[in-house]
Amino acid sequence: MKKIIEKDYQSLSEKAALLIKEEIEKNPSLVLGLATGSTPLGLYKKLIEMNKKGEVDFSQVTTFNLDEYLGISSSHPQSYNYYMHKNFFDEINIKKENVFIPHGETENPEEHCKWYEKKIEEKGGIDLQILGIGGNGHIGFNEPGSSFSSSTRVVSLSKETIEDNSRFFEKKEEVPKKAITMGIETILKSKRIILLSSGENKKEAVKKAFKGKVTEEVPASVLQTHSRVTFLLDEKAEDF
Ligand code: PGA
Repeated sequence: MKKIIEKDYQSLSEKAALLIKEEIEKNPSLVLGLATGSTPLGLYKKLIEMNKKGEVDFSQVTTFNLDEYLGISSSHPQSYNYYMHKNFFDEINIKKENVFIPHGETENPEEHCKWYEKKIEEKGGIDLQILGIGGNGHIGFNEPGSSFSSSTRVVSLSKETIEDNSRFFEKKEEVPKKAITMGIETILKSKRIILLSSGENKKEAVKKAFKGKVTEEVPASVLQTHSRVTFLLDEKAEDF
């Protein structure tokens, strides 16, 4: 695994945007896996800026998001659908039909998960997957204990994740308890993976993922088994 250390959040975001731009230059119809949370916000801001200046073109790019809360509508301000459109898609020249995010309000979540996996395959698989990491080592909403052979499915969020994400909701009780997430195996099928992490509170999780034991108790540790992973960190997130 490769490790890139940037001075701070700003330069980490710029570096991530540059790496994505390079991949799109090599392959204009890149299939890009995307993440939500606070970490990629700077990256999306930078990509929007570059797209507006004509430095990067999303017109042939397809995207698949990692996850979505179950039981909330796409227009809910805390849904990942809403987050992605507001913070990224509405501001770039991507075709709406090339954007895929699991639906939080779906009649048959199990069928929807199968459909999502099939769509990824139909598009030729994910070329580059962007990941964040949870304080408990989760990737997507694959919480500790998730099977390394899991595919897209409905999961229950851990207490720690509900606690971490309650900062985005008015009350902790409002945080959904379930979600749809790409599985660990889905993520591992990506041809290239870049994990972003910034700040001191992720330092332990990052260290365990990068050089700890490969165990289902630390879902991100599975990345050690993939041939093309880059950890893109700022100085505060790096402690090893
Ligand atoms: P964060 O979350 O970017 O908001 O820290 C990352 C994650 O939980 O995967």
